[in-house]
Amino acid sequence: MCGIIGYVGKKNSVPYIIDGLKKLEYRGYDSAGISILQDGHLITVRAVGKVAELEKATLLANPQGQSGIGHTRWATHGKPCEENSHPHRDCSGDLVVVHNGIIENFLTLREKLSALGHKFKSETDTEVIAHLIEENLKTAPGQTNQERLFNAVRKTNGEISGAYAYGVLWAQTPDFLIGVKNQSPMVVGLGKNENFLASDVPAFLKHTNKVLFLEDGEMVTLTSKGVTLFGKDGQEKPFKPTKITWDQKTAEKGGYEHFMLKEIYDQPQAIEDTLRTAQTDFGKLVGLKMGDLRALQNVHIVACGTAYHAGLVAKYYIENFAGIPVTVDLASEYKYRTVPRTPHTLAVAVSQSGETADTIGAVRKAQELGFKTLAICNVLGSTITRVCDGTFYTHCGPEISVASTKAFTSQLTSLYVLALFLGKANGNISATVFNKLYKELLTLSKYMAETVKIEYDVRHITKKVYKAPHFLFLGRNVNFPIALEGALKLKEVSYRSAEGFAAGEIKHGPISIIEKGTPTIVLMPPDELFEKMLSACQECRARGAFVIAVTTQEGAQKAKDCIDKAIVVPYAGEFLQPILNVVALQFFAYWTAKRLGCDIDQPRNLAKSVTVE
Ligand code: G6P
Repeated sequence: MCGIIGYVGKKNSVPYIIDGLKKLEYRGYDSAGISILQDGHLITVRAVGKVAELEKATLLANPQGQSGIGHTRWATHGKPCEENSHPHRDCSGDLVVVHNGIIENFLTLREKLSALGHKFKSETDTEVIAHLIEENLKTAPGQTNQERLFNAVRKTNGEISGAYAYGVLWAQTPDFLIGVKNQSPMVVGLGKNENFLASDVPAFLKHTNKVLFLEDGEMVTLTSKGVTLFGKDGQEKPFKPTKITWDQKTAEKGGYEHFMLKEIYDQPQAIEDTLRTAQTDFGKLVGLKMGDLRALQNVHIVACGTAYHAGLVAKYYIENFAGIPVTVDLASEYKYRTVPRTPHTLAVAVSQSGETADTIGAVRKAQELGFKTLAICNVLGSTITRVCDGTFYTHCGPEISVASTKAFTSQLTSLYVLALFLGKANGNISATVFNKLYKELLTLSKYMAETVKIEYDVRHITKKVYKAPHFLFLGRNVNFPIALEGALKLKEVSYRSAEGFAAGEIKHGPISIIEKGTPTIVLMPPDELFEKMLSACQECRARGAFVIAVTTQEGAQKAKDCIDKAIVVPYAGEFLQPILNVVALQFFAYWTAKRLGCDIDQPRNLAKSVTVE
């Protein structure tokens, strides 16, 4: 968790850092801070709350300097308060550190450093890094201060353990920043006479699209003139920057009031972009040869949150098209349960960010069991893509809203492609059927473009129900995970209590919570289960539920006596329909939250990317 930004260049670093922090707020936003090197001294400003609070405080203090670092925090050690916000200082106040991740042995180090006379001012694990570097500087070899700092940081890395990425700024080394990466994200932006260190690309994309993605164990030094990369062995390492094709506009709201709304509307494009590269990407998967694919006997899907719901849908896809048994686990559970060492097993990790600690942990476990691993991921060069044997990228661009929308439908699209390819490889579907299904899939973005037009209707319906304390979402079969996702979305952004159920299950308990007016959103595409969904509507309505059906024009007509309202979506076929149905639930969550005045893009207590266990 947390967002880091660092700047070295020829201009005043303050606006670069504040702007970068705003772009990183999705990584955490309980407090923020900035340190600027001004006339040989570090000026540090910190504030509790969002970056806007820090911005106000910085305007008052008015620091000016060409080197600086900043941080936006999501608390892990120590409550959100000014003392615990970063940057953290050493005893002299001359050296500051911004950090993302967890230092697992910080208590031992803190005791050791305290015994040596170091004075700690916060409850954080981060502060030990600053003091440890200060301690190591006393004996660090080097002709120049830059060399001494480099060596002290390297020694520090050997002494700390855990998952971390951090940046260091020292008053004795103007125009010089150090970045370190170990199991938490860290990227470098290469500009002209200016360079950036950050947790993620949007932090500096306005200024440069040339990016260096650091690997675990690497260190980097930045000056305004250049960037030097060092490998695990501390030796200089050549590198080739990656050119990012997302422009800044894509990474910003594009005129919508919230990122969530923009990202819902991005979905037709996201699906098209994902499909554009799907076929060629597939050839590069996991190093599995045709023979291995044919022999595949098990698929294990691991993921968290919304990505887990994508995995649940994929079970229907893979079992239907490829006939291979699939288990779907919450990554945090997979890590700790006994997983049999089955032969010919592929583990698929689904993750938008590629940085979710639980999912990374589950991948490592799958690898220990000897399984091949495949990532379905949206972030180029992220940790999961480097840990897995192969990656199938979703191409939905940066997703900024904490509540995931376009990443989910892109994941479903990719997983659908995966299921088709596995089915073709093992002969469960013929080449003719594969071609027919693939052709249908290519029409999905057109259907999606039709589907996003339902916003007005959904908005209108939420007016009737948004004050309800509790909501139910019902689906069956491949739409059951969509009911779960609808409930999760609503909880995340509107803080309402919501539950998703398999419609056949409500009579076994959940129906007892229905009372007069309980909004009950029922996913009922015109398939063979339509009649059963109608019965579910009647059962709920008889107990006072306000039933909202997500269905087609024809379905709405047939169901009219059993429902209160209909959200009409186009029909794309049994297995593609969940990808359209979820859009109704995304708008539903958005408009409920909007009417309730919630902080839609940054809901309370949540973070976009959970990089701690
Ligand atoms: C967090 C976010 C969720 C997201 C989940 C998995 O909990 O709040 O929106 O679905 O992480 O994230 P990933 O990046 O692995 O898909």
